[in-house]
Amino acid sequence: MLKGRHLIDPMDFTLEELNEVFNLADQIIACPEEFAHTCEGKILATLFYEPSTRTRFSFEAAMLRLGGKVLGFSEPNSSSAAKGESVADTIRTVACYADIAVMRHPKEGAPKVASMYSDMPVINAGDGGHQHPTQTLTDLLTIKTVKKSLSNQTIGLCGDLKFGRTVHSLIKALSRYENNKFVLISPNELKIPDYIRREILQKNNIEFVEVERMEEVIDKLDILYMTRVQRERFFNEEDYIRLKDSYILDGEKMKLAKDDMIVLHPLPRVNEISYEVDLDPRACYFRQAKYGMFVRMALIAKLLGVK
Ligand code: CP
Repeated sequence: MLKGRHLIDPMDFTLEELNEVFNLADQIIACPEEFAHTCEGKILATLFYEPSTRTRFSFEAAMLRLGGKVLGFSEPNSSSAAKGESVADTIRTVACYADIAVMRHPKEGAPKVASMYSDMPVINAGDGGHQHPTQTLTDLLTIKTVKKSLSNQTIGLCGDLKFGRTVHSLIKALSRYENNKFVLISPNELKIPDYIRREILQKNNIEFVEVERMEEVIDKLDILYMTRVQRERFFNEEDYIRLKDSYILDGEKMKLAKDDMIVLHPLPRVNEISYEVDLDPRACYFRQAKYGMFVRMALIAKLLGVK
């Protein structure tokens, strides 16, 4: 039963509950007009303490397409956070006006704190370099639709694996499906955090390798998940400039990949995928952004318990 629940971490839902969300997303994709009044009379609050294009717009579009309404802020200086209000007080106040809230915050754990003070469902829309569970729903729905299975995949994750919250959430989620293997491609300074390596991969005996060169492994991948280097999480600009172009996926590298490998990226892209790759039928990142809206429609409907 998902009604009234929060979504803070990708492991908050069981595999059966994830399937419920994906099945509803599939129904919405097949016949969106049937859901145009599903959330009439309901209000979604979007509380964004950090910039966003896809997550905020797709949540707002999702609620509007379900017939509901939205309110919120896209940067904290336009809210009472600028006067020092705590996340706990903000969410208790917003719960007086809205039925469900989505929160993005630069501090790890802030949406979790909000959920502890909220009777309405709170959805984590990204907390610092920690987790981004609705990007993971987006990624899983994309993989399930395009590759026809969430199991038996060799997934290459490339770029900033240290600060990239989408990568942390995706590894957690895909580790629960059978026979997935991970190829972690990053510079030494941007390797996956130790808690993911130990608590998720090693503890569950999941096959993985860590490499620095994409060219060594691209031919073995079913999925290549590119990420940008997360400038906003670096302590100094020099390190960012040195590392930012560590990987650039271009047409030449795509020639080394399997014919049915797909390229995903949570976006925004900076420089890590050349524009020429957009024309390759294996490039799925804009389709992925669209699936993000449909899966968020399904998520909102499930958490609100509307028919
Ligand atoms: N993928 C993602 O979280 O994008 P935004 O930062 O634009 O929301």
